[in-house]
Amino acid sequence: MQEELFKKIVSHCKEYGFIYPSSEVYDGLNGVYDYGPMGVELKNNIKEYWWQGMVQLHENITGIDSAIFMHPLIWKASGHVDAFNDPLIDNKDSKKRFRADVLVETEIDKMIAKADKEVDKAAKRFGESFDEKMFRETNPRVLEYTQKAQDTETRLANALKTNDMADLKALIEELNIAEPDTGSRNWTEVRQFNLMFSTQMSNTGDDGKLYLRPETAQGIFVNFQNVQKTTRQKIPFGIAQIGKAFRNEIVARQFIFRMREFEQMEMQFFVRPGTEMDWYNTWKERRMAWHRSITPAEKLRFKDHDNLAHYANAAVDIQFEFPFGFKELEGIHSRTDFDLKSHSELSGKKLQFFDPELNEHYIPYVVETSVGCDRLFLSVLSNALIEESVPDAQGEDSSRTVLKIPPALAPVKCAVLPLLKNKEELVDKARSVFDKLKLHFLCQYDEKDAVGRRYRRQDAIGTPYCVTIDFQTLEDNTVTIRERDSMEQTRVSIDEVAGIVSEKTDLSSLLEKLV
Ligand code: GAP
Repeated sequence: MQEELFKKIVSHCKEYGFIYPSSEVYDGLNGVYDYGPMGVELKNNIKEYWWQGMVQLHENITGIDSAIFMHPLIWKASGHVDAFNDPLIDNKDSKKRFRADVLVETEIDKMIAKADKEVDKAAKRFGESFDEKMFRETNPRVLEYTQKAQDTETRLANALKTNDMADLKALIEELNIAEPDTGSRNWTEVRQFNLMFSTQMSNTGDDGKLYLRPETAQGIFVNFQNVQKTTRQKIPFGIAQIGKAFRNEIVARQFIFRMREFEQMEMQFFVRPGTEMDWYNTWKERRMAWHRSITPAEKLRFKDHDNLAHYANAAVDIQFEFPFGFKELEGIHSRTDFDLKSHSELSGKKLQFFDPELNEHYIPYVVETSVGCDRLFLSVLSNALIEESVPDAQGEDSSRTVLKIPPALAPVKCAVLPLLKNKEELVDKARSVFDKLKLHFLCQYDEKDAVGRRYRRQDAIGTPYCVTIDFQTLEDNTVTIRERDSMEQTRVSIDEVAGIVSEKTDLSSLLEKLV
């Protein structure tokens, strides 16, 4: 694990106003975070890029914004009341709580790491002539570790599928898994724990119990017919939504990777039964292309699900290589007609589509794409945060911290800097440039400290362009424009600045990679 990088990301987020721990003055609230002035801009840009990639680029996808509170029967029909559980285990000595499946998965990762270590050692020993494939297929140690990892994975998947918590406990004992901090193996039994938060609403009859939605998708399902009727879409069509979701995660850690309150960006694509696997493959490719437009391809991969959720007949994750390894960023699920059918049954309302081409009614099948906005945020920062050595004003080696965020996602697009703050003409001119540019995109005006330090401050929040107003500006209306990554400065006319910055920072520069 790139522990150092991860620590740097967390402290950078706090220092530069991207993310703060929630309720910090009261020592925080586990698994809950607040987005600061830079964070909210970056997050909004990520959401906007996703939204435009879905709704703007696809004529047959429209958006909604459904309420967080929903009728409690929705969660009965969706299966969340009965099946939205994680296996929980407590350590009796440390009194700490763990997800039993994650303890086993961590053990599997260690087995795979041991096999990889053998391969690395051999690669060094044999040099150029090394045949990795053959070595993996024949080396007894590698085979042993790989086989053990596979067997454990299969047994874990079976235990989860059949709800066999006793076997999960047996697996933890057989693998000799100890509590990571204390080494204690004094475990309780494993039991299922429902992840939904509940609350109460007055005047609803019964006990008024409601759930905070654990996924935004159900708001789409129960609005399926409303949207279809008002948009007159024909199948296939999609409904997109961005919104908060809540899960009482057993262990909320790894910063904003696993939170108790988070934001999802989901799209349900309603298709003709029998065509769902084609659409599943199409959406796999489309979503991977979207991620690759902002993330290096080698940091992304597909991982099929071994253990399907209660609603799915096929599911794959797009994983990203976080500083703590490859982990799920987005889930793509073929959800069959499970949800619409259950809601039809429980509500007594027919949630069907009349297909004029087939001249028949049917319950559509659904392919879903679901990505966590906060995880995307973390992936963008993990890629972007770089320390590099650069020459300073005197040509000496110095280092800078720079956020190489895709310019279209950067919180601030352009900083306007008068060379000196005590020269009124420079300040007035810089202010007038700032007032013009702010009509086009988010700018910052900064006059404090030497210009080099101001550049560093903008580098640290990922601002793609800095415009400096100097004495020559007063003579010929030109400014220097400095590009964040190359640090190259060019002199351009003031009238050109808005165009240059817009061209590179507009979301269309990303969208065009998708079509
Ligand atoms: N509607 C399908 C669904 O909710 P999921 O795989 O449980 O599927 C989708 O969640 C995405 O939501 C995940 O890929 C992840 O990016 C994000 N997500 C899930 N739980 C999260 C959590 N506790 N904290 C942050 N993001 C989370």
